[in-house]
Amino acid sequence: MSNLSSLQFNPHVATSPIYVGGASIESIKKEYNLDDVIKLASNESPLAPSPLAIKAIQEAAANLNRYPPMGDESLREVLAETIGRGTTPDHFVTGNGGCDVLSMMAASFLKQGDEGIICRPTFPVYEITAQRVGARMVYADLNPDHFTYDVKAILGAVTERTRLIYICNPNNPTGTTMTATQMEMLVNNAPTHVLIVADEAYHDFVTAGDYPDTLAHVLQGKNVAILHSFSKAYSLAGLRLGYAIAPPEIARYLSRARESFHLSQLVFAAGIASLRDRAHLEKMVALTLSGRAWLSQQLTNLRLPVWPSQSNFILFKPPFPAALVSERLLQRGVIVRPMSQFYLPAYLRVTVGLPEENERFIAALQESLAAMEAEGVAKEVATEESRGEFKF
Ligand SMILES: Cc1ncc(COP(=O)(O)O)c(C=O)c1O
Repeated sequence: MSNLSSLQFNPHVATSPIYVGGASIESIKKEYNLDDVIKLASNESPLAPSPLAIKAIQEAAANLNRYPPMGDESLREVLAETIGRGTTPDHFVTGNGGCDVLSMMAASFLKQGDEGIICRPTFPVYEITAQRVGARMVYADLNPDHFTYDVKAILGAVTERTRLIYICNPNNPTGTTMTATQMEMLVNNAPTHVLIVADEAYHDFVTAGDYPDTLAHVLQGKNVAILHSFSKAYSLAGLRLGYAIAPPEIARYLSRARESFHLSQLVFAAGIASLRDRAHLEKMVALTLSGRAWLSQQLTNLRLPVWPSQSNFILFKPPFPAALVSERLLQRGVIVRPMSQFYLPAYLRVTVGLPEENERFIAALQESLAAMEAEGVAKEVATEESRGEFKF
């Protein structure tokens, strides 16, 4: 007999939502009985990791009988060398992916009853990690037409209980950015009991001239922590490595929330090798920028509402219910991401892939929409109700 009923579950853990990732290629092959499936659903890189990283992993594998180093200085030294600008290893905190660093931030700055501010629609992990420690989310949503930030609304939402303001920049899932002027206004006017988390996981793909130099605020010792990930431009989503850059006092405090032996030998080896392979990073960024321009144009040609993206994905709104369009794409072996968990139930997000993958997605989308039109499937009508739970 189980003693489960006597256990005291932490209600915050028991009720916090669970993040749902994009479907895997293997699961869709099996479910739809297909041989050839492409995944454009999780903002991953379509390229294999740097060959230097793969070689470093192979070499490090022989020593896996040993624990990894307790400290992460070797990696933080190479991060400081790579980022430069006067950063030192003391500015960095590493984690098992950016999501782990977000958990560390929530655990370090939020207690029961505290508040975090998010600007929906945005990356759901902010809300999940904050709820898990009993904090409450306060919303200062993006402008619903252009998905731009409203700094006055963010500052207006701050209370004495606010501890963290999450700025996703570029924002997932809209691909839009906060400008340098807006960031400056936020940093200069946020009260000193608040830490601004600038999640710049996709910063490598930004071409906009008015993108903030958030590092300058960190180097001035402002209450700002930047988040970076190796899962995007470094092609290492499966490895799990991310880091924060913050003023040393904040970084030192945040790293107290790390697990013991939080990174494996393989992560140290691959992370350091990847940072040294600038050519691989540049290849991935160039591929993304050309694919992004091509995909945006194609979606526009299909007369679909598309938002200008500064990232490696594009948000669009199909004319039919998004879940039905996603299903039709799956039948054609193309996985994209329905946005219901991202506060946008009527939208889809497609990740920029290889040129042939982008072409296959557009062809599958065209076919799906034509078939739905021919079958007389009911259109998604832009009423207040159908725009989704959060008015978008
Ligand atoms: C905005 C944003 N931040 C952080 C992450 C975390 O990435 P990871 O945990 O893979 O480093 C993601 C992943 O999709 C993201 O979209």
